[in-house]
Amino acid sequence: MVDSSTFGRAHADAIDRDAQDPLAPLRERFVLPGDGRLYFVGNSLGLLPRATIDALRCAVEQEWGGHAIDGWNRSGWWDMALRLGGLLAPIVGAGQDELLVTDSTTLNAYKLLGAVLQAEPRRDTIILERSNFPSNAHLVEGMTELMASAGRRLRTRLIDVEQEAVPVPSQLAEAMAGEDGERAIALLSHVAFRSGFRFDLAAVNRAAREAGSRVIWDFSHAVGVVEIDARRHGVELGVGCSYKYLNGGPGAPAWLMIATHLIEGLSNPLRGWVGHRRPFAMELGYEPAPGIARFRCGTCPVLSMRALEPAYSLTAEAGIGAIWEKASGQWDFASSLVAEHLAPLGVEVATPPHRHGAHLTLRHPRAMDWKRALAARRVVVDFRPPDLIRVAIQPLNTRWIDLVDFVNRAMEALSPEALAEAKAEAAAASEGIVT
Ligand SMILES: Cc1ncc(COP(=O)(O)O)c(C=O)c1O
Repeated sequence: MVDSSTFGRAHADAIDRDAQDPLAPLRERFVLPGDGRLYFVGNSLGLLPRATIDALRCAVEQEWGGHAIDGWNRSGWWDMALRLGGLLAPIVGAGQDELLVTDSTTLNAYKLLGAVLQAEPRRDTIILERSNFPSNAHLVEGMTELMASAGRRLRTRLIDVEQEAVPVPSQLAEAMAGEDGERAIALLSHVAFRSGFRFDLAAVNRAAREAGSRVIWDFSHAVGVVEIDARRHGVELGVGCSYKYLNGGPGAPAWLMIATHLIEGLSNPLRGWVGHRRPFAMELGYEPAPGIARFRCGTCPVLSMRALEPAYSLTAEAGIGAIWEKASGQWDFASSLVAEHLAPLGVEVATPPHRHGAHLTLRHPRAMDWKRALAARRVVVDFRPPDLIRVAIQPLNTRWIDLVDFVNRAMEALSPEALAEAKAEAAAASEGIVT
């Protein structure tokens, strides 16, 4: 229970906002964690939509069980990658034919990077941002080594941008402008996984265009919660996952986006029979399928794909505009509660307030013990070393009162006794592999 005397006005305000929240009824459409747990890790794994249970049961019993191999035609398995892309289109603000649901985020980013490098042989610089997700740095390193073995020298420029409160951080602008006719391609996370910093999409894309650079955006921490509006904001190339704010389930297939004007000029470096123009002709020579379908590679994981339809539909039904408006309001509300009640206990907001996404990153020297003490108080957040915890807002199921409740339990969890107890318990227990 939230102590209403401590939280006074905020408590009443939260109750009021929940009562007026047009998205509030959607919370019941999820399987919520039992025992009153507060779930703030929807940026890692979104909760299970109830409709997904029936969709998966139907996929297993009626489609696979009932149709067996005929499912490829009778149940529409073959075209799911494109159909789901169409469902995702209004969420991302892209055209129906610009999206493909396939593979993992990492594989998709690799495919797009390889495709651009192949199509544009003078592009020799890759820009990476220091707070990027490690996969993006790894795939760039792999691509650079592969190209070097074939005699093409690429260089990587590592930049730092998070602290600058301007739409196009100066290090990024400089790197994109390049030297001596250098042409760059940047691989940037729209929302940084650790700090929650969000780039200004429109401004960066405009600057890239003017500099003759390209950007591949990783939307994993934005899609489903931030209003990306890809077409309006000039996004040409993008990738993202489906298991975070899109609630597609553990290991859900990811997606890629290519703006229409680029598609026909790009070819998929991971060629496979599913991306062939005539897959069932079984020819050894490769001819790409028309449109974005050429970025398919192998057989799609049908059962995992079946979980995406109800999940995407739920987000589309709520409307990404309404979701982002609520997320922004809740972020501001939570950060002001943190400033009032947790800052005096040594907590700092590590997300730049001028450009946030939907997760609030908090810094405390005993973050790991704090996370465990929170878990003992039925609050699920995650820890990122060395001193951060992330609190993700999912407007489809996070209530305003949950944020007051979080701060209430977070204060208790920061008491010297709670932290000491968490430390002692940690010494006795073993953590799982996934944190
Ligand atoms: C920003 C970002 N990019 C890429 C990935 C990797 O995605 P995948 O495992 O689908 O390749 C993640 C995973 O959490 C991520 O957070």
